[in-house]
Amino acid sequence: MSLFWRIFGLNAVVLGSATALLLWAPVTVSVPVVLTEAVILVGGLVVMLVANAALLRWGLAPLDRLTRLMTTVDLLRPGQRLPADGGGEVAELIRTFNAMLDRLEQERATSSARVLLAQESERRRIAQELHDEVGQSMTAVLLALKRAADEAQEPLREELHQAQEITRGSLDEVRRLVRRLRPGVLDDLGLVSALTSLTSDFATHTGLKVLRRFDGDLPALEPETELVLYRVAQESLTNAARHADARRVEVGLRHTGGTVELAVTDDGRGIRAACEGAGIRGMRERALLIGAALDITDAPGGGTRIRLTAPVPRKQP
Ligand SMILES: Nc1ncnc2c1ncn2[C@@H]1O[C@H](COP(=O)(O)OP(=O)(O)OP(=O)(O)O)[C@@H](O)[C@H]1O
Ligand SMILES: [Mg+2]
Repeated sequence: MSLFWRIFGLNAVVLGSATALLLWAPVTVSVPVVLTEAVILVGGLVVMLVANAALLRWGLAPLDRLTRLMTTVDLLRPGQRLPADGGGEVAELIRTFNAMLDRLEQERATSSARVLLAQESERRRIAQELHDEVGQSMTAVLLALKRAADEAQEPLREELHQAQEITRGSLDEVRRLVRRLRPGVLDDLGLVSALTSLTSDFATHTGLKVLRRFDGDLPALEPETELVLYRVAQESLTNAARHADARRVEVGLRHTGGTVELAVTDDGRGIRAACEGAGIRGMRERALLIGAALDITDAPGGGTRIRLTAPVPRKQP
C-alpha cells in the first residue's frame, strides 16, 4: 500500500469509528452545551487523537526504522539491513536503501583494500631501505669504532667502547623497526613464529606478562590472511600496553571448524564505550579485506578481548 493510502486509511478508520459512535450512541449536544456533554465530547476527542497517534506510529514505523539505520549505519560493520516486505513506496525505499548499502560496502571494501595494500608495500619499501642503507652504514660505523678502540689508549678507548655500545643499541632499534614494518618472519617461518617473536619482543619492551596459546593444528592460510592476523595482534598488543593498564595479556590462535580465531585478551581496565580511533578502525578495515569478523568485548573478569575470526579457504580437491 502506498504511504498516501496507508495514512488515509488509518485516518478513515478513526474518523469512521467516531462518526459511527455519534450516529448510534445515545449522545446529544445541546446549545449552549451542558457540562456532562462537553466532558463526553472532549473525552471522545482525546480517545480519537490517541487512537490516531497510535495508528500513525504503527503505520510509519518502517520509516522510523529506516531513519534510525540511516543515521547509525557504519560501513565497517557490514550486513546491517532492514526487511522490506510487501509493496508500496516504503518497502521500495527500504529496498533501494539496502541496495545502496550493498554498493557502498563493496566500494568501501575495494578502496580499503587498495589503501591497505599500498600501505603495506610502502612499509616494505621503507623497511628495505632502513635495512639496506641505515643498517649497513651503522654496521660499518660499529666496525670502525671497534678497530679504533682496539688501537686507542685509555681514556679514549673507554669512550670509544661507550660509542660502540650506543651504536649497537641504535642498530638493534633499527632492526626492531624493520621487523615491525615488515614482518619478514611471516614470509619465512609463518604466522606462529612471527606471532611468537612479536609477543616476546612485546613482553621484553613493556614488562607485561604475555601468555601464548596457539593451537598445534593450524591450517595453511593465505599470506594476506596471515598479514591481517599479524597486524591485528600487533595493534591489540600496542593498545593493551598504551591504554589498558594491564599486567597480563593472553594471545590465542585457535582453529575451529572452517575458521581461525585470533584472540588478544588483557586484564586491564576494559575498553567500555571508548571512541574508536584510527587503530581500531584500521583493524576493522583489515578484517573486511579478508571477510573476517572483528569483535571487541569485555573480557571475563575485567579487561578487553579483541577477537578476529577469519575464514579458512577450503582445500581444493
Ligand atoms: N585494550 C584496551 N583497554 C582499554 N582501552 C582501550 C584498549 N584498546 C583501546 N582502548 C580505548 O579505545 C580507544 C581507541 O583505540 P584505537 O586503537 O582506535 O586508537 P588509539 O590507540 O588511541 O590511537 P592509534 O590510532 O594510535 O591506535 C583508545 O583511545 C582507548 O581509550
Ligand atoms: Mg591504538
